[in-house]
Amino acid sequence: MTFTAVATLDELTADVPLAVDEHQLAIVAHQGEYFAIHNLCSHGRVALSEGDVEDYAIECYLHGSRFDLRSGRPLCLPATQAVPVYPVRIEGTDILVDLEHPIQNTQES
Ligand code: FES
Repeated sequence: MTFTAVATLDELTADVPLAVDEHQLAIVAHQGEYFAIHNLCSHGRVALSEGDVEDYAIECYLHGSRFDLRSGRPLCLPATQAVPVYPVRIEGTDILVDLEHPIQNTQES
């Protein structure tokens, strides 16, 4: 696995997605865990980082599809395609993401 430092812990506020434009990621701290999800809704291709976080899901602000932060799977319509999510590791104050090995999320809702 190849982990890349994408942000630091002091940049994150719980339940407020952090957009990392360089890698097209949204980083989320939620319930004491860290998640990295591709920052593009699979429905209308808008930034998921603009949405709200609740119950291990991030909601697309445009049409309301919610995506599971752990699998990237859509939990409700209109989106039907999963969004890639990536393994996250914390080293010191660095947030590292394995951009080359998305977590398998081929199953659709
Ligand atoms: S653009 Fe995200 S649900 Fe439509």
